[in-house]
Amino acid sequence: MSPLLRVEGLVTRFYTDEGVVKAVDGSFFHLGADEALGVVGESGSGKTVTALSIMRLIENPGRIESGRILFNGEDLLRKSEREMRRIRGKEISMVFQDSLSSLNPTLTVGAQIARVLRYHTRLSRRARWRRAVELLAAVGIPEPAKRASHYPHQLSGGMRQRALIAMAISCDPKLLILDEPTTALDVTIEAQIFELIRDLKARLGMGVFLITHDLSVVASFCQRVIIMYAGKIVEEADIHELYVNPLHPYTRGLLRSIPPLEGEAERLESIPGEVPDLINLPPGCNFGPRCDLADERCREVEPELVEVSPGHRVACLKVGAPTMGGGNG
Ligand SMILES: Nc1ncnc2c1ncn2[C@@H]1O[C@H](COP(=O)(O)OP(=O)(O)OP(=O)(O)O)[C@@H](O)[C@H]1O
Ligand code: SF4
Ligand SMILES: [Mg+2]
Repeated sequence: MSPLLRVEGLVTRFYTDEGVVKAVDGSFFHLGADEALGVVGESGSGKTVTALSIMRLIENPGRIESGRILFNGEDLLRKSEREMRRIRGKEISMVFQDSLSSLNPTLTVGAQIARVLRYHTRLSRRARWRRAVELLAAVGIPEPAKRASHYPHQLSGGMRQRALIAMAISCDPKLLILDEPTTALDVTIEAQIFELIRDLKARLGMGVFLITHDLSVVASFCQRVIIMYAGKIVEEADIHELYVNPLHPYTRGLLRSIPPLEGEAERLESIPGEVPDLINLPPGCNFGPRCDLADERCREVEPELVEVSPGHRVACLKVGAPTMGGGNG
């Protein structure tokens, strides 16, 4: 069976005055119809650009250069803008990064949800309002009938995020993209929002593409994770496999920089150095300048993402190679 989403060789670039930003450089991954896939990486690694490419929302000076984005087997890169407008918000919805501030301050939350319904459904005005109230109830907003008539500034951050999620699921999407959905929220509210998303996912049966900086968030929510570094996927694995057998030096560094799943957190390390300039990438492996294991070959040869065991893919010259020194097999 073909997956809900299959991204093949996606290349997205920005043509800026300073040069060409290689924001996403040849991504391959898939997402099942009922699966939650996590995407983790430092700031600037290409997570949002990947999501915006799937939504076909890359704007000037950006361009999707090549690849295929198969959604239910159909290539979204071949759809007209008109077709995409029907897909966005209906088949594929996205809760955007920093979207808390992007709610329209001049419209009540009920009216904002009703507006999405007007675009995608034939419901009457009254039915749209009723559905908006139902949706606010479904995302756990107390007194939904009253809240529907409130403006965004009258709601707390957590409530606004719930309202945004209500809007995103209003047309029963098959794929929900969440771009750092809880960054602006405190830890307790964050946990509640993930509980909500988990519950909605189970009830509505949709695929979830969850973007975050935080591997521990992914561990509690996703079955599988892809790790991005400087525009490339450097590792992909089942979440359990990733924790017990991380293979890419970058992933290992990320795992050292978060508290363990259980037990006391010991001293946490952060990965020294910075994400390279995506306009002037070093030859060879992008992670080379920050990698303890880098050698001459890493500075010349660009590693490809290869499957080292079923479902576990890694892009590192020292993983899977017969010359490898112990510990990484
Ligand atoms: N409109 C744009 N014009 C030029 N460069 C852009 C544009 N949008 C994104 N980029 C560049 O593309 C690269 C990837 O950006 P992206 O927003 O996908 O990172 P990210 O992984 O989502 O980071 P963060 O965790 O900070 O959200 C960055 O180098 C960024 O500067
Ligand atoms: S290819 Fe070389 S530089 Fe890149 S991650 Fe592997 S060991 Fe490090
Ligand atoms: Mg982002």
